[in-house]
Amino acid sequence: MTATQDTERILLVTGVGGFIGSAVAQRLVAEGFRVVGVDDFSAGKRENVPKQVDLVEVDVAAPQLASKLPAAVHAVLHLAGQSSGEISFDDPISDLQKNTISTLRLIDYANSAGATRFVFASSMSVYGATNDAPTHEEAVLQPLSCYGVGKSAAEGYLRVFSQRTPFVSLRMFNVYGPGQDMQNLRQGMVSIYVAQALSSKRIVVKGSAERYRDFVYIDDVVEAWVRALQRAEPLNTAINVGTGIRTEVGQLLNMIQQLVPDTVVEFTDSTPGDQFGIFADTRRMQTHLGMSHFVSLQNGLRTFIEKTDLV
Ligand SMILES: NC(=O)c1ccc[n+]([C@@H]2O[C@H](COP(=O)([O-])OP(=O)(O)OC[C@H]3O[C@@H](n4cnc5c(N)ncnc54)[C@H](O)[C@@H]3O)[C@@H](O)[C@H]2O)c1
Repeated sequence: MTATQDTERILLVTGVGGFIGSAVAQRLVAEGFRVVGVDDFSAGKRENVPKQVDLVEVDVAAPQLASKLPAAVHAVLHLAGQSSGEISFDDPISDLQKNTISTLRLIDYANSAGATRFVFASSMSVYGATNDAPTHEEAVLQPLSCYGVGKSAAEGYLRVFSQRTPFVSLRMFNVYGPGQDMQNLRQGMVSIYVAQALSSKRIVVKGSAERYRDFVYIDDVVEAWVRALQRAEPLNTAINVGTGIRTEVGQLLNMIQQLVPDTVVEFTDSTPGDQFGIFADTRRMQTHLGMSHFVSLQNGLRTFIEKTDLV
């Protein structure tokens, strides 16, 4: 599928008011696609929605969802959801509604609307505790948070209905970059630390500096979404979206301290369900999406901080 052949075809992007959904929609609009965006603004913001997007304000877990959406769509890109493992413990049933029931409703809609593909915002959280080695998509799923359980279950529903609507599940690792919600100090490791550094020069870290993650810049994530829509092969599979680079939290903190001088760091207890360490096996990114070069954490952080205005 190319933009020129499909400008009349409609793409449904959920979570269009959020960090990643708005960036994906922006890119699709720039490529000439017609985008219908969905959000209930429970977390996202209206000003994030690109102006060329036709906005439908609705809860994607609501029973009457389909009646508010276009009768036919070419593909569904589902990014709406509650995006924090920590918050998922506050109200697991709400998390189930936002991340799992919503996906089931959209799978049903995608089928009735004739969608040829369903791209889903899954997460590294589906893996849970892993060995200190790159995590492959075939690893056993042992999620540690309600959030991870919900994302894993959503993937299960996608598999069950894949004969009707083929899917790609993008298991995103720690996504960061401009556009992240700098007011939400419970979601997004990089944005939390950067927000604290810029506002008070004091970072409070929940958990140890030895934990490790795979930090992936928003532009690389958007590229993965566009490729998953246009060229991912084979379908009906999960693909990690990370860089394959293992970065300890302490290294991340050092980089932020260099970019925001005089920032001090304090450590407190970790949050429930926090994975100690994880980083991606990126072979499927290469074979299925053709991606092997990524923005370095150093460069991504610098751009993020330069473009972030907390006022
Ligand atoms: N940010 C990350 O590092 C990361 C990593 C892995 C997976 N994900 C997943 O990617 C998706 C997007 O994450 P994000 O960082 O952009 O989060 P975000 O909170 O910025 O965006 C999510 C959007 O979904 C909307 N939303 C939530 N529940 C909804 C509902 N029931 N109906 C309609 N809209 C609803 C929110 O208002 C928000 O605009 C989420 O599903 C998240 O779980 C994010």
